[in-house]
Amino acid sequence: MDIQLLTQVEKQSIGERQPLPERYLRLADDEMDARIAAAKRALGKRLVILGHHYQRDEVIKFADFVGDSLKLSRAAAAQTSAEFIVFCGVHFMAESADILRSPGQTVILPDLAAGCSMADMAAGDQLAMTWRELLEMGFDLNSIVPVTYINSSAAIKASVGEHDGVVCTSSNAAKIMTWALSHERADGTRADRLLMLPDEHLGRNTGYKLGIPLDRMAVWDPNEHWGGLTPETIERARLILWKGHCSVHTRFNVAQIEAFRKRYPAGKVIAHPECTFEVVQAADLSGSTEHIIETVKGSPKGSIWAVATEIHLVNRLAQQVAPDRTVVTLDPFGCLCSTMFRVSPNHLLWVLEGLLEGQVYNQIAVPDGTKRWAKLALDRMLEIR
Ligand code: 13P
Ligand code: SF4
Repeated sequence: MDIQLLTQVEKQSIGERQPLPERYLRLADDEMDARIAAAKRALGKRLVILGHHYQRDEVIKFADFVGDSLKLSRAAAAQTSAEFIVFCGVHFMAESADILRSPGQTVILPDLAAGCSMADMAAGDQLAMTWRELLEMGFDLNSIVPVTYINSSAAIKASVGEHDGVVCTSSNAAKIMTWALSHERADGTRADRLLMLPDEHLGRNTGYKLGIPLDRMAVWDPNEHWGGLTPETIERARLILWKGHCSVHTRFNVAQIEAFRKRYPAGKVIAHPECTFEVVQAADLSGSTEHIIETVKGSPKGSIWAVATEIHLVNRLAQQVAPDRTVVTLDPFGCLCSTMFRVSPNHLLWVLEGLLEGQVYNQIAVPDGTKRWAKLALDRMLEIR
């Protein structure tokens, strides 16, 4: 069963978000569709639209490339000839595209209010303070390698790049963390421990999968002095987890899995690794958005799935595999990423028609100094196969 989304409410309140010119409000759906398609046609090869799996149907249908964060980062780096990259996703994704783009390209985010609450849980100055505090606690910073989830600001990625670290996504976290812990630096040294930010759950779930016991993990709270830890706790830790989370994925719980299993004893649960450790342990499988889609689509006819991730992906997946499989959301109330939802067809139309009129709205431009180090951390990730 599809969960009804907030489309009607949103139509009335759209003007409350990034302000749009009056003429882009209250447009009929078919007019909007026709005008987006026309603008896309007129821009032709000058434009490429990238869309994340959590985008709504009215927007995703116009994307040239649809994917998870890794697939879209690769697409952004590979689309070297389009003049404009319009990113239908959230702010950190558009920033990553701007860091990876070719010279002369412009990256646009249709609604600047489309952020990510998890990315906002790690500010550049908090990480700078963390480095200072770790030094104060007596640690050699070379003994700690940072890995940042791509769901982080360009400033965080830059600091990670500068400290010899690397970016990861939900689909390559295990490979990247393995690389980070075993990588030999130019001076022949290896790090003793890894600082993973900003998602403690992705870090814990992946670290555990790699064989790091829970008692060798410590949670660093950036709002506490010395992260709320003692030097002894950090000395023992193989994995330091930044205290950050996704408010969408942490809504899923084990009771929902139990209720699903009771209703569908033959059903399987697949969860995104931003869910808590308990949920991922209780689920049958876990992986990135792309992995979830491929797994369900590749499952035998008649399979029953509960999916623990954002509702637009779950609904679309249910429609695509229907009627051969049953796909339900694990949370009966549906989990909506409200910031992904901010990219509306109205905003998409506004930026595309702007380009036709010679106006660039909502350009995402990472400053050069930040870009240099952030690119190092992103390129490093893309090189690790
Ligand atoms: P994916 O890279 O798995 O698409 O995840 C992105 C994201 O923000 C999940 O909340
Ligand atoms: Fe950020 Fe969570 Fe939304 Fe993903 S689902 S973009 S992590 S707030």
